[in-house]
Amino acid sequence: MCGIIGYVGKKDKTQSVLMDGLTNLEYRGYDSAGIAYFDSQNIEILKQKGKVHTLSSLIEKPISTCCGIGHTRWATHGKPTILNAHPHQHGKFALVHNGIIENADVLKTKLSEEGYQFYSDTDTEVAVALLDCFYQRNHDILLSIYELMKRLEGSYAFAILCEDDPDSIYIAKNESPLIVGVGNLEMYVASDVPAILQETSKYIIIEDMEYGKVEKDGVHIYNMEQEEVSKEILTFEGTMDSAKKNGYAHFMLKEMMEEPDVLKNLFQSYWKDPDAWKKNLPDFEKYREIDIVACGSAYHAGMIGKCYLENYLGIPVAVSLASEYRYQSIFSRQDKLVILVSQSGETADTLACLKLVQDYGMDTLAIVNVVGSSIARIADYVLYTNAGYEIAVATTKAYIAQVASFLLIALAFSKTHLELEDVKNLYVVQKQFLEKHYSEIVNQLSDASRIFFIGRQVDYAIAMEASLKLKEISYLMSDAYAAGELKHGTISLIQEGTPVIAVVTDPNIAEKTISNIKEVKARGAYVILIISSQLDESFDWCDQKIVIPKVSTLLMPLATILPLQMLAYDIALAKGCDIDQPRNLAKSVTVE
Ligand code: AGP
Repeated sequence: MCGIIGYVGKKDKTQSVLMDGLTNLEYRGYDSAGIAYFDSQNIEILKQKGKVHTLSSLIEKPISTCCGIGHTRWATHGKPTILNAHPHQHGKFALVHNGIIENADVLKTKLSEEGYQFYSDTDTEVAVALLDCFYQRNHDILLSIYELMKRLEGSYAFAILCEDDPDSIYIAKNESPLIVGVGNLEMYVASDVPAILQETSKYIIIEDMEYGKVEKDGVHIYNMEQEEVSKEILTFEGTMDSAKKNGYAHFMLKEMMEEPDVLKNLFQSYWKDPDAWKKNLPDFEKYREIDIVACGSAYHAGMIGKCYLENYLGIPVAVSLASEYRYQSIFSRQDKLVILVSQSGETADTLACLKLVQDYGMDTLAIVNVVGSSIARIADYVLYTNAGYEIAVATTKAYIAQVASFLLIALAFSKTHLELEDVKNLYVVQKQFLEKHYSEIVNQLSDASRIFFIGRQVDYAIAMEASLKLKEISYLMSDAYAAGELKHGTISLIQEGTPVIAVVTDPNIAEKTISNIKEVKARGAYVILIISSQLDESFDWCDQKIVIPKVSTLLMPLATILPLQMLAYDIALAKGCDIDQPRNLAKSVTVE
């Protein structure tokens, strides 16, 4: 969360690099934005509440400077106000931050006793004040940053300007992502490579507890032994093409439209040579237990993954939310594999779990979309979902690629078979769904005060994902329940007209779910049935019905979620919501 950009190089480029970089990074947070740059020896700061374009309106005349930093914020400490927006400044320093300083309150009290006065509610201001405090004593910028890192607890990626060195950006990192982009007599600092990809594809990864100085012609990075470390310059292979809307009204719509091809490509890469495909994966035969750990939609994909792996590999699987897993008892076993699922590869809780289980010596496999992200780099094995750059906060194509990745693992390590014809059929079914809109259901749901989703097993996992999608972009209160669980409490909320969206695609338990649906119908629910064509009988008593055409059982989840994603999109559209950047959210959740 929060996006950081920095540039040192040519006078006439700083403004555009900072503003374009912030626009590219806006998916990391968008409640306020700011920049700091040198106006001769002095630091100038501009900051504004709201999205990056609101910041542009503050720039009255072109900024001509060799060096600057910028920030787009997702508030952790203090409301989204101009005062709380970054950069923060004390003494000769201006600083932008992504992360959370956990001991900020204690440090603030001490600094207040030393005479510092604070203007914001942020933990970041405490960090810059402490940096200034060290600098006043030792007059050495790098040493002050080192001292700062020794005192801070928590996560941070910092980009820092100091008035005593107007040709450099200083940086420091712990647990929040930070890279340095390498150009020709110009350097960039950013939260991720795509933010600067239109400028350079060469970059250096800054590791935890490293700090340093970035000049236009060189980078010096140090570890906590205060030794300079040599850094490898890497090349980013991706392109920015998938980061454009290509005429679609929203990134979410464009990304949904890409889903059939994302799956087609994934299946093709597997089918071309299944042995080569599984070459870099762990040997599943050696594991007796699997833990799947993830957050949000990736967790929901993991729930479907559990079904695939248990049913076809016969290995018991536990699925956990990363934010819970990291604080629960870890039962370490050498024959256990831990699978971390993440689109961004930067999610703080998932990353923390990865490091934790590696400390216990367990094997780890990351199912990740963003190439070269922290989780991908650290895990023992990586399976890239190759869904392309995903911009909309609400994940669609990356989620579906995660589900497909689990299916491919099941196919690769078991005798289960899937026919090419089945995959081709899925492609057609998905394309058809992407053309369909359910205006009557949209009208019915747009004003509902609460909506229930129900299902069992895989259908429950789909119900959870559909409910999350609806909540996050349309702000409608909805929740998903295991269908059999309703009568243990939740059914008391069902009244005349309460919308219940029921997912029924698993033939093994369809009858049971149908009984649960009848129970809510009997209590007045407005039932929207999502049912596979094989199971579709005369359910005239349902209020609405979406039928999933015949698809192989293995592929069913990859078809069922599409109309539900589209429904969430259409409802959010009807309500006039900010679909790609919903309230209070960010694409990459890099704080705990
Ligand atoms: C999904 O629409 C959400 N935006 C969110 O739940 C997301 O899946 C979650 O934050 C995990 O992110 P990751 O896949 O990047 O780790």
